[in-house]
Amino acid sequence: MREAWTVLDLLRWTASYFAGKGIESGRLDAELLLAEILQLNRIGLYLNFDRLVNSDELTAFRALIERRARREPIAYILGRCEFWSLTFKVTPDVLIPRGDTETLVEAALKVLPPDGTLLDIGVGSGAIALAIAHERFDALVEGIDLSPAALAIATENAQRLGLADKVALRSGDLFALEDSRQYDVIVSNPPYIAVGEQPTLMPEVRDFEPALALFAGTDGLDCYRALIPAARGALRDSGTLLVEVGAGQAAAVAELFVASGYAEIFTSRDLAGIERVVGGRKT
Ligand SMILES: C[S@@+](CC[C@H](N)C(=O)[O-])C[C@H]1O[C@@H](n2cnc3c(N)ncnc32)[C@H](O)[C@@H]1O
Repeated sequence: MREAWTVLDLLRWTASYFAGKGIESGRLDAELLLAEILQLNRIGLYLNFDRLVNSDELTAFRALIERRARREPIAYILGRCEFWSLTFKVTPDVLIPRGDTETLVEAALKVLPPDGTLLDIGVGSGAIALAIAHERFDALVEGIDLSPAALAIATENAQRLGLADKVALRSGDLFALEDSRQYDVIVSNPPYIAVGEQPTLMPEVRDFEPALALFAGTDGLDCYRALIPAARGALRDSGTLLVEVGAGQAAAVAELFVASGYAEIFTSRDLAGIERVVGGRKT
């Protein structure tokens, strides 16, 4: 790199450097990282294309570029991401919430009755539970996770979003659900990737996101096999279970709902038209 750089020069150089590293969103990532260093938003960056970047800023930017070039996800580098228009703290202890998961939030909001109770199994950063609590102040929301580190992040996010009083978070294992409470709605975005798919995953996922959040046995369905029958015991009569599924898993998961005696089984599609959520009612 040379010494005198304008914002625009740096963005162009970095986008091309990232492209050479196989990063498809190179220009956007360059903008996000430089905006972070210069403490600007992206509009602010566009208004400052001719601004010279000083040597301290350049040094700090270089460090972030190198992390991204090693395929570390932008959200872990920035330490945050957006979900449901809310900002969540994320670290490598939690899955980075995906836009597709908003389909599960929408489906849950449709079936949650007034003053209803909801349990989120595998709460991670808290994305689903906190988005629902944010929309529905009347609801009593709980979240469980096997990972103490994830629970710590979810707790921090609840505090940051002013929802600590609305969401109860605790340790729990979906393979040993023993809940004395009965919920109106149970939601879960469990791990659903087959272990054998690990080598085919993008480096951002494979090398950085927590394995506990990703993998579920040889066919990716292990968590559903445990969760779908067990959740019946924690649902009120006529309560609804909703789970996120991976592309191509909806039919197999719907069969598990049938086998466990759920009724009114349905699927919801994400914005890409993929069946992303399977739900059913306890009869
Ligand atoms: C795919 S992530 C979903 C995180 C978050 N709900 C979201 O949608 O962004 C799955 C979560 O399930 C948790 N998990 C994995 N195995 C579990 C188990 N046996 N019991 C409870 N939680 C588990 C992981 O720690 C992880 O936080």
